[in-house]
Amino acid sequence: MKNIVLIGFMGVGKGSVAREIVKVSKMVALDTDDIIESMENRRIKKIFEEEGEEYFRALERKVARWLKKSVENTLISTGGGFYKVPNLKKVGTVVLLNAPFDVIYQRILEHPNAEKKLKKRPLFQDLERARALYEERFPLYLKAADIVIDVDGKEIPKIAKEILKKVKAK
Ligand code: S3P
Repeated sequence: MKNIVLIGFMGVGKGSVAREIVKVSKMVALDTDDIIESMENRRIKKIFEEEGEEYFRALERKVARWLKKSVENTLISTGGGFYKVPNLKKVGTVVLLNAPFDVIYQRILEHPNAEKKLKKRPLFQDLERARALYEERFPLYLKAADIVIDVDGKEIPKIAKEILKKVKAK
């Protein structure tokens, strides 16, 4: 089976959905941010602070090339900007988790570790800038996706089921 690549804005729930899919399927999961942190032996926040965003984006492209060459039958969750890698569609079936910005922000705030979740995300330091980034990316996410899943108001298990069903039907 092809890989499944989860894309979507910061905080939309890519990680939670990936963990659920692993629970209910035979797939194993990888996360592009985790791969980058291990490659660099430092946190994303540190990489942004010490090297800047473009350095991080180049690492994402490197990871994408490796995934395409070496990984299959895997659920791949990605950072919110990973959709920009040029070979995205070749990595696997691209599934967008889609929700309005305010729903995403609310979801982060309701999390017991909300402060930590915001702090570790360099592009979510300022609410209005994050909103602008969302607006800018929204049409690009839609364009990048093979499958769009609206997640607003849905429980994680339902989202996971929907993804597996739609990917199979592709
Ligand atoms: C980013 C999202 C982050 C992380 C980095 C950049 C983005 O991942 O890759 O901070 O450009 O949207 P999450 O989507 O897991 O927060």
